Amino acid sequence: MGSSVTSARDRHATLVREIRTHDYRYHTLDDPAITDREYDALYAELRALELEHPEFVTPDSPTQRVASELRADLRTVEHAVPMMSLDNTYNAEELRDFARRVLDGLPAGATPSFCVEPKLDGASIEVLYRDGRLVEGSTRGDGVSGESITENLRTIRSLPLSIDYTGPLTLRAEVVIFRRDLERINRERVEQGEAPFANPRNAAAGSLRMIDPRVVAKRPLRALVWQVIEGPTLAPSHSAALEKLAELGIPTHKKQRVCASVDEILECIAEFDRDRKGYPYETDGAVVKVDDFHAQAILGATAKFPRWAIAYKFSAEQATTRVLDIVVWVGRTGTLTPVASLEPVQLAGTTVSSASLHNEQIIGQLDVRIGDWVSIQKAGEIIPQVVSVDVTRRTGSETPFAMPEACPCCGTAVVRSAEEVRVRCPNPRCPDQVKASIFHFSRRFAMDIDGLGESLIAALVGTGLVSDVADLYRLEAGQIAELERMGKKSADNVIAAIAASKERPLDRLLTGLGIEHVGQVAARQLADAAGSLAELLEWPDAEVEAHVAAIAGFGPKMVASVRRYLCDPGSRALLERLRGAGVSRAQPRAESAVDGPLLGLSFCVTGVLSRKREDVHAAIRAAGGSVHDKVKQGTSYLVVGAKVGAAKLTAAKKNGTRVIQEAELELMLKGEALPSGEA
Ligand code: IVH
Repeated sequence: MGSSVTSARDRHATLVREIRTHDYRYHTLDDPAITDREYDALYAELRALELEHPEFVTPDSPTQRVASELRADLRTVEHAVPMMSLDNTYNAEELRDFARRVLDGLPAGATPSFCVEPKLDGASIEVLYRDGRLVEGSTRGDGVSGESITENLRTIRSLPLSIDYTGPLTLRAEVVIFRRDLERINRERVEQGEAPFANPRNAAAGSLRMIDPRVVAKRPLRALVWQVIEGPTLAPSHSAALEKLAELGIPTHKKQRVCASVDEILECIAEFDRDRKGYPYETDGAVVKVDDFHAQAILGATAKFPRWAIAYKFSAEQATTRVLDIVVWVGRTGTLTPVASLEPVQLAGTTVSSASLHNEQIIGQLDVRIGDWVSIQKAGEIIPQVVSVDVTRRTGSETPFAMPEACPCCGTAVVRSAEEVRVRCPNPRCPDQVKASIFHFSRRFAMDIDGLGESLIAALVGTGLVSDVADLYRLEAGQIAELERMGKKSADNVIAAIAASKERPLDRLLTGLGIEHVGQVAARQLADAAGSLAELLEWPDAEVEAHVAAIAGFGPKMVASVRRYLCDPGSRALLERLRGAGVSRAQPRAESAVDGPLLGLSFCVTGVLSRKREDVHAAIRAAGGSVHDKVKQGTSYLVVGAKVGAAKLTAAKKNGTRVIQEAELELMLKGEALPSGEA
C-alpha cells in the first residue's frame, strides 16, 4: 500500500506540473501543445486522484483555482503604495514638455531612457506573491484601498498560483478580455436573453467583482502585468523587470520598448496606434515611463501622478459621414427617441448607418441638421454617437430637426412634461408602442411566450391580426401560417406557446403589462394583495387607491401609477378580455405566512443566484419575510448573488442593511441563526 501511495503521489505531482505547463502555453504563450479534450482528461484525472487522496491537495494545485465556496465578503484591503493615476497628454508638444521636466528633475548630465508600452483598457488590480505563492489580490478601488478579490483572481488561468521566486512580489496588472473572447460571450449572452457587455472593459471590471468565483471562472479573463511595486531583487529597471516576470511565467503584454529620445518615443507610439487594431485587447493610448527604478525614485510623485510616467492618449477613431435623415423611434412607454440615419461608413471595424441622438436637448446642443456632415465615434468603442457637426461644409440646404408634434407612427399629438426632456406619444394603441409592449409581454421574465419574436409581432400588428396583448389569445394557427416566412409547424408551436402562457401566475401577467414603476417584485406584491385576476377586477375604482397604498413599500409614485392603470377604462377592458381568455385563472390566493423563521424581516435580493429570483422571493415569503425591489431604510437583509451592482451595496451600507450570501439565506430559511456580523 505504501508504494501505491508513493506512486499516486508521483502521478499527482506529474499531473500538477503538466497542467501548469499547459495552462502557461495556452493562456500566456497562446501556443497550446495539446487539444482541449486531452487537457480535460488530465484535469479529470487530477480531480479523481485528489478525491481519493485529499491529503495531496495543495493551495496551488490547478483544481484549487475555483473555490467551491462563495467569496466570504467584499473585504477592503489597503494598498501598500497608493495606486495613482497617470497624467495624460494628447500631442507631441506635451510629450516634449514631459521629457524636459524629467531631465530637470534628475541630476545634471543624466541621460534617462524611457520605456514605452501600450496602455491597456481593462480593470486594474494588485497581486501579491509571498514565498512563491499567490496570496492576495485586490481591485484598484479608490486608489488607496480596494476590495479583496483573491478567489476571483485565482480563477485566471494565465496567472500562476506559484512561481519560482521567493522574495516578496507586489504587482499591478490590468485584467482584460480579448476582443474575440468578448464576441463569443456576448453571442452566448444574447442567445440566453441577457444584455451583451458594451465593451471589454465593462465585462472585465464587472466579472472581477462578482461574488461567485465559479461564475468568474467561466469568464475568459486575462491579467497583464504593467508594474512591479515591490520586488527589489528582480531587476534595476522597469523594462528588465517585465522581462524577468515573463521568465517567471507571469503574463505581461510583452510590447515594452526602450527609447532614448522623444523622437524615438513618438515613432513607437505611432507604431502602436497603427497596429493596435491587430492587438487582441483594446488599448486607448501608450504609457511612457522613465525606465530606471533609481531615477523613478528621484523623480517621485505629485499629489496625483508619478513624475516619471505619462499616458499618451490616441485619438478615438472617428469617421465623417452625412446625416441622411433624423427618424424618431417610439418605445413601449411611448417615449420618442431621435436617431440619425447615416450614409453608411466604416468605423472601428463595423459599418455604421445609424446613431442615437438620445433626445431633443442633445440635438440642440450639437445643432445637428439633416444633410449635415458629422464626425461620429464609438462610445466605449461600441455604440456610435455623433460628436460634432462640420459647419464649414454646410450649403444652406440642411434642414434643422424638430421633435414632431405628432407621433411619427400614429399621428397622435405628443406630450411633454415640464420636468423631463422626454417627449411621449400618449396613445396606448399606437402600433409602435403596441409592438414594443407585446414584445415586453412575451419576454421570459413576464409571460414567457417562446417563438413570439420581434418580426412575427411586427407582422401580426401590421396585418391587423393583433392590436393588443389580449388579441394574442384569439389567434389561430392558420392565421399565423399564412404570414410570410411562417410555416404550419412554427405556427402550431407559437399557438401552443401562447396557450401555455395562460398558466402563468398573476404577478407575471402584471409584470408583462408593463405598468409604470411596477417591476417584478411590485407585481408580485400587487398580485398577493389582490389574490387573483378576478378579485383585482372587483376592486371598485374608488377603492383601488386604498388597496394599493396599503401594500408595504408602495410609495406615492407607484400608488398613483397603479391607480391610473386600474381606473383607466381601456386597461380595465383589456384585463377583462384577458380574464375571459382564461389567462392567470389558476393563481390561488397567496398563502400569507402567519408564522415562519423570517417573520418581521425584510429582504432585497440582487445579483445572479443559484435558483430563479422568483423562487427565492417565494421562499422568503413562505417563511414569513417580505421582499422589496430596493434597499431602503428598514430593509433587514440584502441577499447578494453574483454580479452585484455597486449601487445596491452602497444603499445597504447607508441604511444599515446587513449583506448576506445566498448560502446564509438558506440557513435562515431553515431557521438557523447566522453568526453575528456587522450590519
Ligand atoms: S503605469 C502610477 N502602465 O492606467 C501609475 N498603467 O491612468 C502607473 N494602465 O492606474 C501606471 N495600462 O490602471 C501603467 N501599461 C500601463 C497601463 C496602465 C493601463 C492603467 C492603470 C493605471 C491607469 C493610469
